[in-house]
Amino acid sequence: PPENPPGPLNDTSAKLVNDAAHPWRPLAPNDIRGPCPGLNTLASHGYLPRSGIATPAQIITAAMEGFNMENSLARFVTYAAFLVDGNPVTNLLSIGGKSSSTGQDPPKPAIVGGLDTHAVFEGDASMTRADAFFGDNHSFNQTLWDEFAALSNQFGAGKYNLTVAGELRIRRIQDSIATNPTFSFVAPRYFTAYAESVFPINFFIDGRQTDKQLDLDDALSFFRDMKFPDGFFRAGQPSGAEGLEVVAAAHPVPPGANTGTLNSYTPDPTSADFSHFCLLYVNFVNQTIKSLYPNPTGVLRDALNRNLDFLYEFVDDPSCPQVFPFAEQ
Ligand code: HEM
Ligand code: MG
Repeated sequence: PPENPPGPLNDTSAKLVNDAAHPWRPLAPNDIRGPCPGLNTLASHGYLPRSGIATPAQIITAAMEGFNMENSLARFVTYAAFLVDGNPVTNLLSIGGKSSSTGQDPPKPAIVGGLDTHAVFEGDASMTRADAFFGDNHSFNQTLWDEFAALSNQFGAGKYNLTVAGELRIRRIQDSIATNPTFSFVAPRYFTAYAESVFPINFFIDGRQTDKQLDLDDALSFFRDMKFPDGFFRAGQPSGAEGLEVVAAAHPVPPGANTGTLNSYTPDPTSADFSHFCLLYVNFVNQTIKSLYPNPTGVLRDALNRNLDFLYEFVDDPSCPQVFPFAEQ
């Protein structure tokens, strides 16, 4: 059964996280990694099981311990991903591709495909991973890295910062509009794309450094090698998507999608955007999760309901009441 989510850290100071107890190791034959450089790094240093198969509580604890990710955001992201990509009954999630190690699958149309699964959480216009349309949505992509570095040189004097983040975000969106007929940029991807644009600034910079300028060698260490730089200290305070509004304001784009052809980007007014956070939550539950689990029963339904309660704890807003797609039968 699902365990309760871990609470905040007691000690939230900057500290050495690339320590003797968490050595980086190369991948063993069956180890799984995926589209998230943060979780990949945590697994390759043993903050998560090195196999890449983990429980929600392990992921929340690792994100807090290793990066000082703020507790409520860590819980929201983790339960959102777990509900669409994980196995609710065995309580296991693959941080990459589908794996038999997460146990027997619940009935279709459930996918339980790990974080690589396209469209339910993973989405288009990632910074260092290609769109699923091009065949690999999870591996480090050298061409995209070259663009990351080029824009950091052009707009950040050789560092990745908030200015670069704004320029790279719009560039990746425009690339996808022009090259991917299936490009989709609606919630939840609309939100995660902007959040992930600032994660490198909030999490990949040494916690003793205060200038918010990410060194490109350090960035590459996380994105490609899944490795903390030598002597790396985590952030000095619980952190999340600080700066997201700066990136979004640099080149505003409404949520939308191409309509099956190139350069056909059409806004989608039914998608949540930054002024409709509640709709992100409600549509994610009533549409995305419900489409995977139209009519769950027994232990599966109980586990889904527990995890949905955990997801709602982040919202916790009387003007955005909890929704219950799986009523007691
Ligand atoms: C991307 C999951 C925590 C940094 C992603 C993606 C997923 C994911 C599924 C792929 C989205 C996409 O680009 O299409 C999660 C989950 C977390 C978590 C479930 C649980 C807490 C973190 C943390 C960091 C991080 C702690 C930073 C230390 C990133 C970055 C990307 C990303 C920078 C964008 C990669 C790119 O665009 O190339 N994450 N993540 N994530 N994640 Fe995480
Ligand atoms: Mg992606």
